[in-house]
Amino acid sequence: MQLVTEDNITDLAVERWATAKDPRLAEILTSLVRHLHGFAREVRLTEAEWMAAIQWLNRTGQISDEKRQEFILASDVLGLSMLVVQMNHRLDPDATPNTVLGPFHIDGSPPLPFGADMSDGVAGTPLFVHGTVRDLSGAPVGGALLDVWQADGDGMYEAQLEVDEARLRAKYSSREDGSYCVRTVAPLGYAIPMDGPVGELVGATQISHFRPAHVHFLIDVPGYEPLITHLFQEGAEYLDSDVVFGTKEELVVAFEQREAGPTPDGGAIDGPWLSAEYDFVLQRRGA
Ligand code: BEZ
Ligand code: FE
Repeated sequence: MQLVTEDNITDLAVERWATAKDPRLAEILTSLVRHLHGFAREVRLTEAEWMAAIQWLNRTGQISDEKRQEFILASDVLGLSMLVVQMNHRLDPDATPNTVLGPFHIDGSPPLPFGADMSDGVAGTPLFVHGTVRDLSGAPVGGALLDVWQADGDGMYEAQLEVDEARLRAKYSSREDGSYCVRTVAPLGYAIPMDGPVGELVGATQISHFRPAHVHFLIDVPGYEPLITHLFQEGAEYLDSDVVFGTKEELVVAFEQREAGPTPDGGAIDGPWLSAEYDFVLQRRGA
C-alpha cells in the first residue's frame, strides 16, 4: 500500500490520470494536475482560499446559460483565449490576424445584401465598413460569408437583451470581385459584464473593464483558414488596455468622417456618415 504524503501526492495523481485511454487526454490531464499542484504549492493555498475558488467556479457555472457565457469571459480576461487563438492561428504576417470570438456571437444571423443596413433603426452615426476579401496573392475571394456583429450605443449586445429579432448582426457575402459592404452604426467602447463572478474578480483589481470600439467579423470560406476577428476604431479609447487582450495593430482602422452624398454601396445618404475601409486577407488552409 502506498501511503499519501504532501511530497508524493502529485506523482500519485499524475500516475492515476495518465491512465486516460486517449493519449492526448492523458497528456493534457497529467500536465493539468502537475500545474494545479505546482500552483497550490507555490502560493501555499489555504483551505479558505480553495473554498472561495470553488464557490467562484460554482457561481460562474450558475450564471451561465446559452446566452451568458461567463466561462468564456473568464478565459478572455485571463488572457487564455487570446493565447489559444495565437498559438492556433500562426498565419502569414500579411494575413488578417485572428482574435477572440467573445461571448456574444449568435449563430444563424440573417443574410443581408451588399450595403444593407444591419442597424435597422438602432440609434447612432451611420457607418459603412467596406473593402475587399482577398487571398495572400491579392486575388479576390468572391462568395465569402462575413458574419458580422456588434454592440449598440449602450454597449449592449443582442445576447444581453430580451429581443425577438436579430439586432446589430447579419451575414453579408463578398461579390465576385471580392468586394463587401456592411452598413451599420458606429460602435462605442463598452464595459464587459461586471454583474457576475468575472466582474467581481476584475473589480478586485485595478484592471480597466472596458473594450475599445469595434465590430466583430467571422469569415469562413471553404479552403481558407477560418478568420474570427474584429476591426477597431483608430483613436478609440481603451485600445491600449483592452480587458480581453484582443487588440492588434493590423486591426485598427480609420473611421473617416464623410458628408452627405454617395456611399460605398452605390447609394447616397443625406447626412454625415463614417467610412471604414478594410481589406480582409485570407490564408489558404494548410499554406
Ligand atoms: C466582445 O467583444 O464581444 C467581448 C469579447 C470578450 C469578452 C467580452 C466581450
Ligand atoms: Fe465586442
